[in-house]
Amino acid sequence: MSEFPQSPWYSGLNRPLGEEYDLADLEVVGTLPADMAGTFFRATPDPAYPPFLPDSAAPLSGDGMISALRIADGKASFSMRHVQTARLKAERAAGEALFGVYRNPFTDKPEVAGVDRTVANTTPVWHAGKLLMTKEDGRPYRIDPHTLATLGSYDFGGKLRSETMTAHVRIDARSGEMFFYGYEADGLASPTIAYCVADRDGNLVSEQWFDAPYCALMHDFAITENYALFPVYPTTCDLDRLKAGGDHWAHQPDLESWLGVMPRRGDVSEIRWFKGPKGVHCFHMMNAWEDGEGNIHFDQCLSRTNAFSFIREAGGIHIGPQDVKGALTRWTVRFEGGPDEVTETIIGPPGDFPVIPAADQGRPYDHAWMLTMNPEMQGPPLVGGPVLAMFNLLLRLDMAGGAPRALALPPGSGFNEPVHVPSAEAGHEGWLITFVDSQTGPDSFDHAAWIIDAGNPGAGPVAKIVIPRRLRPQIHGWWVGADKLAAA
Ligand SMILES: [Fe+2]
Repeated sequence: MSEFPQSPWYSGLNRPLGEEYDLADLEVVGTLPADMAGTFFRATPDPAYPPFLPDSAAPLSGDGMISALRIADGKASFSMRHVQTARLKAERAAGEALFGVYRNPFTDKPEVAGVDRTVANTTPVWHAGKLLMTKEDGRPYRIDPHTLATLGSYDFGGKLRSETMTAHVRIDARSGEMFFYGYEADGLASPTIAYCVADRDGNLVSEQWFDAPYCALMHDFAITENYALFPVYPTTCDLDRLKAGGDHWAHQPDLESWLGVMPRRGDVSEIRWFKGPKGVHCFHMMNAWEDGEGNIHFDQCLSRTNAFSFIREAGGIHIGPQDVKGALTRWTVRFEGGPDEVTETIIGPPGDFPVIPAADQGRPYDHAWMLTMNPEMQGPPLVGGPVLAMFNLLLRLDMAGGAPRALALPPGSGFNEPVHVPSAEAGHEGWLITFVDSQTGPDSFDHAAWIIDAGNPGAGPVAKIVIPRRLRPQIHGWWVGADKLAAA
């Protein structure tokens, strides 16, 4: 078998691991909250085979692995499994990589023509008793939440027409409905978006198609109580480029961004497009909400360009990571009347991986959490993940403008995206669980899940669950309470 290339995408914290295992009764330093019972599902990309073509976007194509950190009765266990995608099965049978560059089937080996290319590596989504491993380039794979066995590709019982489903769904905590979309819904480089609603029982009750201003990397979206919001940023795809074997995405700094807004239970013909600034990009929205005066606020981790170096460079933008300026940014629009452009306000620091309590989805919210870089840190951040820099500061933001509360990591350590776990105790903001990676030598790392009081992160972890194995950086996670798991 050939070796993985000598590159930061495949070495250090990013070294491929590909191990499945079960670890019971993990060492806990400190005390787990007595009322914490449930499972933190995590999505981790981990390439099973070295690429056979140079691919700058290869960090996005690691085969999906799902892990489960299970917590109950003050104890914890951890399991990890591959998602058994059609792609992984085909490559396993051949003993080598068969799929070419990221989201470009024109570069695949001929024997896998027509085989589902998705690696299901981005978010474990829980809705209506089902666990789905998602990636925006295809349909999700359904996973048994108890065994982590792969149950197969999932299309909502044959109802979903879209070829794709986002890894960022939005669930209205009051109605239990799941709102989602797929972009490139009818094929490569298409501007067509499928807007979908599943009821609280998981039935796909609506799927409507519309066209965006252009085919764009639409990683996330947002809902409010009455609207669905579709941001379009100028990271674009071109079919001729794909046919020539090129990159799926290139960032276009001179192209306008857009925010599409429609009544969330309305018809897609009602969508109204608001113009945003040129050249900006955002992967993750924190929340969106209505203020009761006709304004719709859309809070996002916005950058002045694309945060991924390989997407910038495909668009001819050659700047260092320190020049990717950004901030937690609010776009405000009025659906009825008002200008056709967004009004932009800076409301927080640069960073990513925004987290809100699930109950606040689409509603005015009082506090939130996100990851950022510690401006006072001496030395470089821990190298890892698709941007080769792990965040080292966890923030609790007061959305009314009060001072943020922070937890900083020492040099050589990095946070993965936290999940929020509500507390049963009235007035308690709940807990955050975040995996912390720490470099202990040139090619050695320790990993632990930190349990943090969400209202007071600066106090440090109340408990650390030690994972006595190597882990690759996680993309997204999802917390599922024990009651929901037991009912599934
Ligand atoms: Fe994401």
